Amino acid sequence: MPKSSSTDEFSLPKSISGAKPKVGLILGSGLGPFVDRLKSTGSVSYSKIDGLPVSKVPGHEGTLHCGKIGGVEVVVAKGRVHCYEGWTAKEAASLVRLFDQMGVEVVVLTNAAGIVNANFKPGRWMLLCDHINMTGLSPLTGSATFIDQSEVYSKPLRCLIVEMAHELGMIAPVEGVYTWMNGPEYETPAEVKMLRTLGADAVGMSTVPEAIQARALGMEVVAMSCLTNYGAGLSGVPLSHDEVMEVGANAAAVLVDLLEKCVPQMV
Ligand code: HPA
Repeated sequence: MPKSSSTDEFSLPKSISGAKPKVGLILGSGLGPFVDRLKSTGSVSYSKIDGLPVSKVPGHEGTLHCGKIGGVEVVVAKGRVHCYEGWTAKEAASLVRLFDQMGVEVVVLTNAAGIVNANFKPGRWMLLCDHINMTGLSPLTGSATFIDQSEVYSKPLRCLIVEMAHELGMIAPVEGVYTWMNGPEYETPAEVKMLRTLGADAVGMSTVPEAIQARALGMEVVAMSCLTNYGAGLSGVPLSHDEVMEVGANAAAVLVDLLEKCVPQMV
């Protein structure tokens, strides 16, 4: 049952208040077509959900979709807010607390990221096996919540995704360490070199606050980065947001098939 009490952080409009999703997905740009695979039961703009932050970037407002995939009830969040817009880390993790309020047990996070490990290739997907938080921010600030972070990203769910990729005859995602940088500017070549020295494989500006929040609420987490570009200094070409978006959109098509196969097996 979706929890509903006066202590709820978010107030859900009628169109989705009856949803009982078990899996919640937060999709980075380009993965929008995944919602076309849902047997939809309702959708609503973020601006209609009291308590949820709404991006002020035109075209980034966000929509929540409820539906079924392979018989399993899911909720899909298209669009997220980032700390570089001025939101706190707690605000950036709001969708995860909304998922928790709806009864979600497994959270799937996707993002676009720059390559720090030069052995990786643009257009491929990376399963996060761990992260490095370089922002100094946390969604748990203000509460003495000393959660364990030994395995933020579920090993069994990572195995499931690799296994299903093989079954579909796809190139399986590589595993790697994601670094959260605040942005919005891309890194300098010296920063990319530093991140590699620290053990990072990829760098981006999202996902980590959501993963920390989900673990604090006892949810299982799996996260994937679309490797859209070489980090600054690795290729000799300047970074362009348009290139990041284009590579992301092309790589998204294969992930939609993979998620459709995996999500029903995650609960
Ligand atoms: N750096 C940070 N975030 C990103 C990048 C990058 O190179 N590419 C896509 N998101």
